[in-house]
Amino acid sequence: MSEAAKPENERRKFRAIKGTRDILPPDSALWNWFEKTARSVMESYNFGEIRTPIFEETELFARSIGGETDVVSKEMYTFVDRATPELENIAMEAFTDAMPLLDQGGFAKYVSQFEGFVERVKRAYENGEIPKSEKADELIEKLGYIRDGVIGSEGGAGKFPGISTRAIAGYTAAIVAFRSEIRLGFPITLRPEATASVARAYIEHGMQMRPGDQKLYYIGPMFRRERPQKGRYRQFYQIGAEVLGTSDAPAIDAELIQMLTDLLERCQIEKYTLLINSIGCPDTPERRGCRPKYVELLRAKLREPEVFSRLGADSKRRVETNPLRVMDSKLPNEQDIIENKLPKISEHLCVDCKAHYENLKKELTLREVPFTESPRLVRGLDYYMRTTFEITSPILGAQNALCGGGRYDGLVEMLGGPKGIKGIGFALGEDRFIDAIQEAKKIHATRPVDVFVAWMGERAYPTAVRLAHVLRGEKHTVELPPEEMKFRKALERADKTGARYVLIIGDDEIASDMLTIKRLADGKQEKISEEALVDFFRPPGLTKEGPGS
Ligand code: HAM
Repeated sequence: MSEAAKPENERRKFRAIKGTRDILPPDSALWNWFEKTARSVMESYNFGEIRTPIFEETELFARSIGGETDVVSKEMYTFVDRATPELENIAMEAFTDAMPLLDQGGFAKYVSQFEGFVERVKRAYENGEIPKSEKADELIEKLGYIRDGVIGSEGGAGKFPGISTRAIAGYTAAIVAFRSEIRLGFPITLRPEATASVARAYIEHGMQMRPGDQKLYYIGPMFRRERPQKGRYRQFYQIGAEVLGTSDAPAIDAELIQMLTDLLERCQIEKYTLLINSIGCPDTPERRGCRPKYVELLRAKLREPEVFSRLGADSKRRVETNPLRVMDSKLPNEQDIIENKLPKISEHLCVDCKAHYENLKKELTLREVPFTESPRLVRGLDYYMRTTFEITSPILGAQNALCGGGRYDGLVEMLGGPKGIKGIGFALGEDRFIDAIQEAKKIHATRPVDVFVAWMGERAYPTAVRLAHVLRGEKHTVELPPEEMKFRKALERADKTGARYVLIIGDDEIASDMLTIKRLADGKQEKISEEALVDFFRPPGLTKEGPGS
């Protein structure tokens, strides 16, 4: 039975997918206010908006964020895109009959199809229509061997008089295995964050050729398959900013952080802590590699039996995979070890990283941005080096990070971009910021209705439609009931809508050519002519106190 034919109580009801949610009016007014405010703060620091796609090649995120991280290993929404229809068709033709063709005649026919497929796959691979990878390189090469084996040794396609059934079975099995292993479509991921996308766009558009540092911001949804709870969603919203260019001056880091504290101030969020740290540098030809040295020191300490035995299962695993992450463990019985037993990275920075960090602190002090040093702040994504920071708020509960960020100087180069491009950025969780604004109870964004048009009678209707349009043209929010309402009902509705004024148009108004305006705050009513209407509502007339008063 179709859904439509079922009785109402049996029809399936849909709900938003777990970890996603709808944002409805009036809450959406606060979201809009916040986004507008964030844009205005970021634009005051000369950041320009970048919009990148919601999905990208999986490989981009895996390489940037790091395969061992929670985000990449557990939380990404990934799917394999379809191959081009033409490739899918050739693959179907070449493979559907592969297994049963164990006689020589069938095999000859099959080989000619297979030939076509090999050529097409190779071409598609070279043109980038098929995802490139080491595995695919290997498989394509293997495909060549299989093809040469069949066609070369047996004296050309079409005739295989001497070929054994066993050899045919061997070839077809190898080909079928190839088909199941080769990926004809690209793996694609819904973006879990946007820094990787921004770096990709920077490289793709040769933005290093543009003058000065590129200062970019973005606003939009991100996707992570985390366990949903308050402040943690599977589709959540970030506002982020990135600075890419040849300089790594600590003033850039400090200005970016100051931009964030400006935004917090505009939102009148007072209870927050800015945590900063430096996680040193990787081991590259230009750098001293203080981080890997520190990581070894940390690993050695963590392996000591009296420390190791007190770690939880996750941290025990991380001793080998990513010891740095032990530092931001939230497990209560690991806290004492982390605070008191483990070496602190700030005490193991190389001279360059140390100088950078000291200067960052000076730059923040110059800007009167208060900060707290947190040697535990290592952040969960692999691209970071040197500066890391987070802003936490006690009013958020367990998910207390309002935003996080840091420096990622090697990322652009690692993604195949120009050498020597540095980067730093942050992203704030919009969902959490909105919670914090609501908790702080200082900002109350609403979308008020300026005028409710109460029209009564057929004669009043055309005037009501016309005047509603005129007032909307003056940028007022006007509610025009689509059907006639009794006067009392209209007033009640206007009141519930939160309208400031009711424009009353009934038979009397039409007859006298004068409109009635009622101010709902105090019930004050006056008559005005149609010509005076626009001026009546023109700013500064339209204030809480009312026009002209
Ligand atoms: P992140 O720390 O993974 O960093 O995320 C930044 C912020 O996004 C968090 O502090 C939090 O407020 C919010 N957030 C993260 N996951 C969720 C979630 N599941 N639900 C709600 N809010 C969430 C990054 O994403 C980096 N790309 C930041 C960055 C930019 N670093 C350099 N440039």
